Amino acid sequence: MIQFEHVSKSYGKTPVLKGLNFTIQDGQFVVLIGPSGCGKTTTMKMINRLLEPDSGTISIDGRDIHQQDKVELRRHIGYVIQQIGLFPNMTVAQNICVVPKLLKYDKARCEEIVRDLLKMVNMEQYADKYPSELSGGQQQRIGVLRALAASPPIVLMDEPFSALDPMTRETLQDEVKSLQQKLNKTVIFVSHDMGEALKLADVIIFMAEGEIVQMASPEEMLEHPANDLVRNFLGKHAPDAPAPSTVEHFMRTNLITVKQNRGVLECAERMARSSVDTLLVTDEEGRYAGTISIGDIRRWGRELNSIEPIVRQTARTVRVGDDARESFDYLLDSGANYVVVLGEDDTIAGIVTKTSVARSVAENLWGDAR
Ligand SMILES: Nc1ncnc2c1ncn2[C@@H]1O[C@H](COP(=O)(O)OP(=O)(O)O)[C@@H](O)[C@H]1O
Ligand SMILES: [Mg+2]
Repeated sequence: MIQFEHVSKSYGKTPVLKGLNFTIQDGQFVVLIGPSGCGKTTTMKMINRLLEPDSGTISIDGRDIHQQDKVELRRHIGYVIQQIGLFPNMTVAQNICVVPKLLKYDKARCEEIVRDLLKMVNMEQYADKYPSELSGGQQQRIGVLRALAASPPIVLMDEPFSALDPMTRETLQDEVKSLQQKLNKTVIFVSHDMGEALKLADVIIFMAEGEIVQMASPEEMLEHPANDLVRNFLGKHAPDAPAPSTVEHFMRTNLITVKQNRGVLECAERMARSSVDTLLVTDEEGRYAGTISIGDIRRWGRELNSIEPIVRQTARTVRVGDDARESFDYLLDSGANYVVVLGEDDTIAGIVTKTSVARSVAENLWGDAR
């Protein structure tokens, strides 16, 4: 159990933490969240005494940590930060075993730790590789394992995944949650991403300007956000967030377009390569000009140099900001494959297809689409 009682800290005359009170139970996954500069990192660094409070008490299992030996204290607390800093001249195995070695574990035990931990993240074959041979996500994974190597009951993680791409971040979130549950750790995790907090936390501590605004389970916070700041952070995750209703929320934007002066053969090849049977066509200025179909190319193509004569304006077009419902109805009723969404300057903003609609709806219901 970790307990903060009236913990305050100032830098110069600026108060940064204003009398924090909270208790974290063993085995809980707690996420500290709040606007940048609200004091999350400061709070976290006090738990392993990288920083000391000006006043108040922090205790672990009823013992004031200020009375304890720092080195001894930190043996029981793993620590992971954003720039993990693996030692570049050490292998993965050696990196993981830095702390066990300091603690003078014997070789066999170190090897066992490495094997067991790497197995948990399916990286057994990486034991003898160097950090430079790993991707960013893999390095961060090893950083997490290093923090777990001496089996500390408490692990502190300060925005450990914020530098990673969204896919890798999701994977590591899943792994950390599963490691925490399997190994029954108490984890205190700093994040500025509400999606991450909702996914990982048993308890979320929402801070602002050095104070706790709300401490609650994700469900409770979603149901009853303490104030507008919390509600804003919850944003699209909140149950009462208005459902998006305009076309741009339902369109896909990675499109294949061609200029209308291009050759017929070139366009046919692009269609074949991308497995599509129509292409979006723009004029020289990038404005929407129409579409061409593989059928028309087959029928007329041989006689033409450029595609311009066979560009059709038959596709339904709508504008960014238009109500999406009309496009859905049209797609369903007409059997058309897509509706073209135009921006203000007549450029192509995207297309709405049945698949893009389904994807957006799923994302809205279940969070970020994979
Ligand atoms: N060493 C320092 N000296 C002066 N001010 C600091 C120092 N470290 C942090 N601060 C200030 O304390 C506040 C809280 O910082 P921090 O705990 O890092 O916030 P967070 O992690 O929530 O973004 C910020 O206003 C920050 O500018
Ligand atoms: Mg911080």
